[in-house]
Amino acid sequence: MTLHTGRHFLQIPGPTNVPDRVLRAMDMPTLDHRGPEFAELGFAVLAASQRMFKTKQPVVIYPSSGTGAWEAAIVNTLSPGDKVLMAETGQFAVLWRGIADKFKLDVDFIPGDWRHGADIAAIEQRLAADKGHKIKAVCVVHNETSTGCVTPPLEVRKALDRTSHPALLMVDTISGLGSMEYEHDAWGIDISVAGSQKGLMLPPGLGFNAVSEKALAAAKANSGMRSYWDWQEVINFNKLGTFPYTPACNLLMGLNEALKMLEEEGHENVFARHRRHGQATRAAMKVWGLETQCQDPQAHSPALTGVVMPEGHDADHFRKVVLENFDMSLGTGLNKIKGKVFRIGHIGHFNDLMLMGTLAGVEMGLALAKVPHREGGVLAAMEVLKTREVTAMSKVA
Ligand SMILES: Cc1ncc(COP(=O)(O)O)c(C=O)c1O
Repeated sequence: MTLHTGRHFLQIPGPTNVPDRVLRAMDMPTLDHRGPEFAELGFAVLAASQRMFKTKQPVVIYPSSGTGAWEAAIVNTLSPGDKVLMAETGQFAVLWRGIADKFKLDVDFIPGDWRHGADIAAIEQRLAADKGHKIKAVCVVHNETSTGCVTPPLEVRKALDRTSHPALLMVDTISGLGSMEYEHDAWGIDISVAGSQKGLMLPPGLGFNAVSEKALAAAKANSGMRSYWDWQEVINFNKLGTFPYTPACNLLMGLNEALKMLEEEGHENVFARHRRHGQATRAAMKVWGLETQCQDPQAHSPALTGVVMPEGHDADHFRKVVLENFDMSLGTGLNKIKGKVFRIGHIGHFNDLMLMGTLAGVEMGLALAKVPHREGGVLAAMEVLKTREVTAMSKVA
C-alpha cells in the first residue's frame, strides 16, 4: 500500500467533498430533538430547503439515502397495477424502475442508449396515445449520474401540458439539486427526489421529497400501505419544527450550514461555477482525443463528465493507476458500461485549482496507463478557466 500525503482527491460524482465549515457545524453535542433549540433548526432547514428547491410547497426530509426518497415518491402516490412512464437514461433510471417493479407498478420503460437524456418526443407520444389517462406518473432522472446526461424536467412538463395529461411528474434530481438550475414550482414538478451527498455537499444520509399540492392530493387518495415514508405524518410534525421519529440531528445541522453556504455564494453563481467546470473538463477531453459518454452537446452535465475509454483499454485499470499514483478516486462505470467508462465528478465543494489538480491527475494517469491520447488537455482547460465567462450553450435547464 503506497503512503500518500496531503488530501485525497475525491472526484467521484457523489458522495462529494464536505466543506470544513459543514464538518464543524455537525461536530456538535447531541440535541434534544423534541426541545426548542431543535425546533429552531428544524424550521431553518425546512425553509432553506424550500428556497433550494424553489418551492413554496412542503419539502419532506428523511434520514435515508436517495433510494429511500425514490421509494417514498412511489409509495405515497401509487398503488400496485398503476401504470408509470419511465425513461432509460442510465443506471439510476434502471434502479428506480427496479423499485417500481417491486411495488408491482406497470412500467412502460422507454429504451435509451445511455448517451442521451430522456427522449421527450417518445414521452409525448406515449402521453398523447394514452387517451384513457392510464399513466399515473412520468418519472425522469434530471442528471443521470451514471452517464453525465441531463434531461430538462421543464421539457417533460411541457409534453404533459401539450397533451393535457394529468399524470404526476416525478423528477430524480439527486445529483442535480445544488449543482444546476432547479425550479420545483415554476417547472410544474409534482415530486422532486433528492439526496444530501451530491450538490448539497453533505455526507450521505438525508433523502428529500419536495411535493406539490397535486401530489399531496394523490397521496391522500392513495390507500396503499406506508408508514415510515408517509408524507402527511412528517408534514404534520414539521409544522412544529420537529419530526415523527428521531431525526438525523447532526446531518440537519450540516444541512443548515451547507444551504447557508450555497446562499452566500448565490445559487446562480453555484450553477455557473459547475457549468464552467464542465466546460473546462470537456475542453481537456477534446485535446486528449477522448469521447464523452454524453453524445448530445445540449445535454452535457455540469456536475460530472463520463469519459469513454478507447477500445482495448479498461477504465477500471486506469482508475486504479490514478488512485495508486496520485491518490485520486474517479467514478467507476456502472452496470453495462463498467470498464468502458470512468466519471470525473466536478460537483459540490469545488474550485478551479481542484479541477486543475483533477485534470492533471487524469492526464498523467493516461500516460502511465498507456492510454492513447494527445497531451495538452490541462492547458486547454486552463484557457477556459482563465476566461471567467460561461457560454449560454452550456446552460442546460
Ligand atoms: C441520479 C441518482 N439517483 C439515485 C441515486 C441513488 O441514491 P443513493 O445511493 O443515495 O440511494 C443516485 C446515487 O448516486 C443518483 O446519482
